[in-house]
Amino acid sequence: MRQTVNVTINGRLYQEEAEPRLLLPHFLREVVGLTGTHIGCVIGECGACTILLDGKLVKSCLLFAVQVNGREITTIEGLATDGSLHPVQEAFVERYGFQCGYCTPGMVLATYSLLSENPDPSEEEIRRALAGNLCMCTGYIQIIESVKEAAKRLRQL
Ligand code: FES
Ligand code: FES
Repeated sequence: MRQTVNVTINGRLYQEEAEPRLLLPHFLREVVGLTGTHIGCVIGECGACTILLDGKLVKSCLLFAVQVNGREITTIEGLATDGSLHPVQEAFVERYGFQCGYCTPGMVLATYSLLSENPDPSEEEIRRALAGNLCMCTGYIQIIESVKEAAKRLRQL
């Protein structure tokens, strides 16, 4: 039986219906219409489905939609403001931190989360923070460079 899910996503309150077994990334993409959250392995390994839930980084494929009732989510669509990319997004563009872009929403949100807690991470800390996000394309070098650039940009704000 469908249940009502009241959830705030990117600052907007949604009230939607969901089957109890509907996974959160499917809810975000197919019910709410926010397709920036990608779906990969669906077993918590790849990080393509990464979001922020109540400010904490989580892999949304490990949650059912009904579990976020009453909670607050930020997806990749929530980072840009007034049509301008977030500094983390700008850094990924400038430093070529993506190729196909499939992993990119998760990488950007993982970076955003890292830099919120640690504005000047070492390369080791960056690698550790992104360990749960896999990229099939870039070899990670450009992603690490993007994170360093993002940190620099945010420190200058
Ligand atoms: S789809 Fe969620 S971790 Fe891979
Ligand atoms: S850019 Fe293609 S998976 Fe990372």
